[in-house]
Amino acid sequence: NSYVAIMAGGIGSRFWPISRSNYPKQFLDILNTGETLIQATLRRFNAFIPLENIYVITADDYLTIVEDQLPELPKENILGEPERKNTAACIAYVSTKLQAINPEANLIIAPSDHLIGDDELFRKHCETGLHFTSKYDVFLTLGIQPTHPNTGYGYIHYGHEMVGDEEVHEVYQFTEKPNKETAELFLEAGNFLWNSGIFIWKASVLLKALEEFQPAMFKLFSKAARQLNTSNEVEAIKQVYQKCAAISIDYAVMEHAQNVYVIPSSFKWNDLGTWSSAYENFNKDAMNNAVNNFNTITKDTSGCMIHSNDKKLMVVGGVKDLIIVNTPDAILVCSKDKEQEIKDYVSLVKEVK
Ligand code: GDD
Ligand code: MG
Repeated sequence: NSYVAIMAGGIGSRFWPISRSNYPKQFLDILNTGETLIQATLRRFNAFIPLENIYVITADDYLTIVEDQLPELPKENILGEPERKNTAACIAYVSTKLQAINPEANLIIAPSDHLIGDDELFRKHCETGLHFTSKYDVFLTLGIQPTHPNTGYGYIHYGHEMVGDEEVHEVYQFTEKPNKETAELFLEAGNFLWNSGIFIWKASVLLKALEEFQPAMFKLFSKAARQLNTSNEVEAIKQVYQKCAAISIDYAVMEHAQNVYVIPSSFKWNDLGTWSSAYENFNKDAMNNAVNNFNTITKDTSGCMIHSNDKKLMVVGGVKDLIIVNTPDAILVCSKDKEQEIKDYVSLVKEVK
């Protein structure tokens, strides 16, 4: 009864300009490991879940990229979305579909674009989670020990007591993307974890919560349920997505649900959400610059993230804590502490063009 749904429809705009809306970061080998982020994600899950039970949900525009990058995955397990409606719709779609195939479906929902350091430990936490959610009608997420007041994550206020002898803890409150002051308070309080964005629950449990907290979305998908897994699926989903709200699962369900649990996870995790998080994973020179380009000369420069994917010579002098990214048709120079605003810069680019 165990399934995996890999979400791969995001546009990774904070990783501009190497992540582009026509080829976003989940399809790139950001850390030069020899495989793209989505290939690593599939490999990690396929170690304990058979390919037939692994689904990828992505934008229609990326279907051929997914097919090319994951040739081993059955084609019918790659689901396209006609519009970008954020993660609640994506999860509602795959849950409705799986529920129709197997009413006991118990699934892991995972991002496609994260770095996970320890495959064995990751597997152990996932299996503990699947075991727990197969027994109880609950929501479970994998939590990460926070290291700084990052405002790009969900925060999980949790209890120190384990539930039974499993490594599962009760969650008091889930708060998505708090402001800086709140994130600082959470970090000081100590009993908070970051949400890794890896969720585990039965499809039936998610659909019930959707009915309660997002009734309009629930109605749309349940009306279409009988058309899924038939030749009408694509058309039915198109109709649903036209009317469906765009909201993330974190705001749509996780902040409201009562029966939420967490496994404090200890594998190395990095969401590669921004250039700074990638910077943490690259080798640094004596001045703490991460330089991903052989043709770069730095002088009196420190703490910079410098990335280039062409052979152009780059000279960087007298600056610190900058993100400098060179691609054939766009260059970004941005202060590291403004990186959350890269999203806005991308909107500006679209306006100007
Ligand atoms: N299919 C599909 N459709 N996938 C999507 C869509 C969509 O409309 N939107 C986003 N995704 C995919 C992204 O590609 C990514 O793999 C995953 O869903 C999560 O979306 P993000 O947009 O990256 O979310 P986030 O990083 O802002 O926040 C989430 O992840 C954090 C951890 O990285 C939240 O769950 C936070 O609570 C969490 O801390
Ligand atoms: Mg993310």
